[in-house]
Amino acid sequence: MNVDGTPFRTIWLADDGEAVEIIDQTRLPHAFKVISLATCEAAARAIVSMQVRGAPLIGATAAYGLCLALRDDASDAALAGACDILLATRPTAVNLRWALDEMRRVLAPLPARDRAAAAYGRAASICDEDVAICRAIGDHGVALIRDLWEKSGKSRPVNILTHCNAGWLATVDWGTATAPIYVAHEEDIPVHVWVDETRPRNQGASLTAWELGGHGIDHTVIVDNAGGHLMQNGKVDMVITGTDRTTATGDVANKIGTYLKALAAADNDVPFYVGLPGPTIDWTLFDGRDIPIEERDEAEVKTVTGRTARGDIVSVSVTPEASRAANYGFDVTPARLVTGLITERGICSASAAGLRGLYPESAGS
Ligand code: MRU
Repeated sequence: MNVDGTPFRTIWLADDGEAVEIIDQTRLPHAFKVISLATCEAAARAIVSMQVRGAPLIGATAAYGLCLALRDDASDAALAGACDILLATRPTAVNLRWALDEMRRVLAPLPARDRAAAAYGRAASICDEDVAICRAIGDHGVALIRDLWEKSGKSRPVNILTHCNAGWLATVDWGTATAPIYVAHEEDIPVHVWVDETRPRNQGASLTAWELGGHGIDHTVIVDNAGGHLMQNGKVDMVITGTDRTTATGDVANKIGTYLKALAAADNDVPFYVGLPGPTIDWTLFDGRDIPIEERDEAEVKTVTGRTARGDIVSVSVTPEASRAANYGFDVTPARLVTGLITERGICSASAAGLRGLYPESAGS
């Protein structure tokens, strides 16, 4: 997507063809800063610190992290060690495991001397595939938005609520939840997006709002608790979120608070859709309660970071010093609350049968 008119992906190779460059997402929306990753450890730190985040981008960064490790030592032990470091970075997004498994599948049979080049090749194709997947999610999902627009007699913009950032910043390009929105915008279908701020890290307020604004898409940031009120008052036509891991039965893990939006949507007959890339399906799990839920530092809840009028970035406390805080990163929306899964292969019900129908080769694996 474009940043001030220049096309960007979220991750790419530096001019030397070896180092990896990323957008430092912890600096947005106040500064656009590109940083270079030269080692596997740096790639792991970028994931842990959330300079890169979002399930597909975590996978892509891990793939490149492995490339960086294998430049120095491509032995079996080095390959296993680098995979361990990267796999330990974040627990919920299954794209991390998927990307590392995929890299290992390609690299393990090769002699050590051929591994680094092959790793760079597969990491690049993982990124290209993610772009194609997300664009296809957009092409399928736009039909839902077009339908709602036509049902309104083309009388007003389609109001879409989204949570967290499942936009192009969370993927290599296009995003998952946002891809249908970007395609609708391309097709001149008027849309307005309600952007949940998404405490504690505010990915909605700082990242989704930034990227939608950058593409001229009408949007309004709301506090996390506003969605139910808006749905009760007919101000939301549909919800689209992303997912970090979806079970083979269609239970959806996504950023904390997604479940409450799904409950409110069900109570108000608002369709609730999830943008789901194939690599985000965990074919080994059949019950959302088995998805590991990340618990992060309480400091993220006890403070808020922002820019002062003078332009300084500061963190301020919002709780009494002595209060404890809990910081669950994700929750699970049961399949029964999900109207449909928008995948790169089409839209299906959130069910084992629905997913099996689109991915017959993976179901049961
Ligand atoms: O903690 P984050 O910012 O990595 O969480 C991101 C989300 O929950 C996204 O909605 C999800 O990864 C889908 S990304 C296309």
